[in-house]
Amino acid sequence: MRKLFRNIVRQVNIVRGLPEEVELEPTNYCNLSCPLCIAGRDFQEDPLGLIEDENYSRLVRELVGRVYRLSFSGRGEPTLHPNLFQYIGEAHNLGINTLLNTNANTFDDSRVQEAIKSGLDRIHIGLDGLTQTTYERFRRGGNVNRVFNTLERLSAHKKNGAPYVLVIFNLNRYNQNELVQLSDLAGEYPAIDKIQVVMTSVPGVYTDQDYQSLLHEFIPDDSRYIDGGLLTPNKRCGDYKRAFVTWNGGLRRCWNDTQGTTNLGNVFQGGFFNVWGTFNTIATKKEVRQKKLDICGTCVQSVPFMSRVIYKR
Ligand SMILES: C[S@@+](CC[C@H](N)C(=O)[O-])C[C@H]1O[C@@H](n2cnc3c(N)ncnc32)[C@H](O)[C@@H]1O
Ligand code: SF4
Repeated sequence: MRKLFRNIVRQVNIVRGLPEEVELEPTNYCNLSCPLCIAGRDFQEDPLGLIEDENYSRLVRELVGRVYRLSFSGRGEPTLHPNLFQYIGEAHNLGINTLLNTNANTFDDSRVQEAIKSGLDRIHIGLDGLTQTTYERFRRGGNVNRVFNTLERLSAHKKNGAPYVLVIFNLNRYNQNELVQLSDLAGEYPAIDKIQVVMTSVPGVYTDQDYQSLLHEFIPDDSRYIDGGLLTPNKRCGDYKRAFVTWNGGLRRCWNDTQGTTNLGNVFQGGFFNVWGTFNTIATKKEVRQKKLDICGTCVQSVPFMSRVIYKR
């Protein structure tokens, strides 16, 4: 039923030129300093902050019946916003499907229960290593046991299949040998619905020298994973279906736009659909899909995005 609804919204939105999904950044603060993330490396030119309740409520009410999903992600850690699960509950009660991208380092038992009670539909958890040593190479400042504890609590409290739990494993040179054990996680934590391996990429914002040394440090050198190996390249970007809104209301074509060069306007001042109207063409969406914007050159997905699902319930 949900799939049918989603397909209808997708087809209608293509014709109307609306996004299928809005990605909202509740905050651009982060508790970790992942070395290859534009949030972790302070590449952002925007001030740091948190979305305000009033702005959120106005935005979510505008989206009702017009977009399928509201996802909470962006250039920071969404769970650092104290009202996050209240926001998710508000969207859920208005019939909007919700998704949360998180590093899962901030959950205690009551926060996991709060997440479940909010009606959250999907949670995507970044787990880039099975031991503290491999995990913290990318998730600098993070603690892998906090992620495992979150998976355990989700397994204890999850009800009627919600939220759908996707574990994302960013493959890098330090954790490449752990791939063989990765699917065992699903046996240990029954809450897990899917495990997906994604190639870690180096954003092109670095100077040539740093870029080369980071490539050498992080990109897997095991040929089983690259170019026709385990991971399948996807030359297209999926973000043409999405709109990205910063914590302070900037509507951009992609979360990777650190400097706001693709800013279309401020949705808190102009209203989401008024601002979105300027981007309402099939041609502009095609530019994103085919990675033809200037910002695509420095994106972490500027190399063909590679991924593979290694477990699905
Ligand atoms: C920017 S984070 C924001 C949400 C949250 N803080 C998290 O880590 O999931 C969104 C996603 O981008 C991914 N990401 C960040 N830098 C990346 C890189 N250089 N290569 C591949 N994925 C990256 C993260 O692993 C995460 O799954
Ligand atoms: S990947 Fe997520 S946790 Fe890591 S620095 Fe970026 S926003 Fe923070």
